[in-house]
Amino acid sequence: MQPAVETQSLTRVFRPKRKKEGSIVTALDSVDLRINKGELFGVLGPNGAGKTTLLKILSTLLLPTSGKAYVAGFDVEKDLLDVRKRINMVSGGEISGYGLLTVRENLWMFSQFYGIKSKEANARIEELLGRFGLTEKAKEKVRTLSTGQRQKMNVIRGFVTNPEIVFLDEPTLGLDVNAARAVRDFIVDWIRSDRSRTVLLTTHYMMEADELCDRIAIIDDGKILACDTPSNLKRMVKMNTTLTLSVAGLNEIAGFDTIQGLNSYSQTKDVESSTTKLRFVLEDESCVSDIVSKVVAEGSKIMSLQKTEPTLEDVFIKLVGRGLE
Ligand SMILES: Nc1ncnc2c1ncn2[C@@H]1O[C@H](COP(=O)(O)OP(=O)(O)O)[C@@H](O)[C@H]1O
Ligand SMILES: [Mg+2]
Repeated sequence: MQPAVETQSLTRVFRPKRKKEGSIVTALDSVDLRINKGELFGVLGPNGAGKTTLLKILSTLLLPTSGKAYVAGFDVEKDLLDVRKRINMVSGGEISGYGLLTVRENLWMFSQFYGIKSKEANARIEELLGRFGLTEKAKEKVRTLSTGQRQKMNVIRGFVTNPEIVFLDEPTLGLDVNAARAVRDFIVDWIRSDRSRTVLLTTHYMMEADELCDRIAIIDDGKILACDTPSNLKRMVKMNTTLTLSVAGLNEIAGFDTIQGLNSYSQTKDVESSTTKLRFVLEDESCVSDIVSKVVAEGSKIMSLQKTEPTLEDVFIKLVGRGLE
């Protein structure tokens, strides 16, 4: 079967406009991806990993420097009109839509850019507004909406053209829990209700990737480090248990590197509770006592201790060498 999206050694380099200003950035470095029709595919990576660059190339907004990208079998460089007819894209965390138009006018206008018949567009708009609880806002000017409502409208805009393939760039960025839930549920329902549809979404939320995606590509520094189902990715670290310590009064601790049986570790400060969360990926559980001794010897107080099975975050730390947040 023809893949929905395929890239071959896809590379994108950004050169500074003037030679003395900054250095060359390789935003995408020889990316090979094959996304099947019907898949909800996630690209997971930290800020600056290259996620937006990838989606911009696939949606024909940016040209590759080298390599190839095909969407629905069409070359994004040569057949861009064929690509554009079949796709839509939504970017999270970005103000979009015309504030002076109403919600319905905005959506209708975008549907007309795609040449959707007015009757069909209106029916779809009503259905989607209802689905997102925005029916009552249909006649309100967009500038009066909350961030969450505006983002929901943005998501509706991405689906109102009934695309074959949807690119969602961090669709839940900055949304509150309920709005994010509504967007995620909608995405899953949309793709499951027609197997010829495909979604490619980017995220830096581990839980979102784990919960939604059929397969995930982990990207860092322009390179795909792993690509598999969430459960297979977690199986990669199956042998490793994670130890999470919440400690108070922690100064910078160095020297965990010398502990035998420790695979990797990361620290995150929780400002609110003035504690530090230490996460250790263990190769051999016997090193727990060494870790605890070291933390205590530094004069820190252990507030809680938890041993857990691998999560996507552990996979990420193992591959990238650091956490996401
Ligand atoms: N227009 C641009 N000009 C120069 N550098 C860019 C441009 N767009 C992106 N970059 C750089 O490319 C890298 C990848 O960026 P991006 O694709 O936006 O990452 P992400 O979406 O994963 O946060 C970053 O180092 C970023 O600074
Ligand atoms: Mg981005």
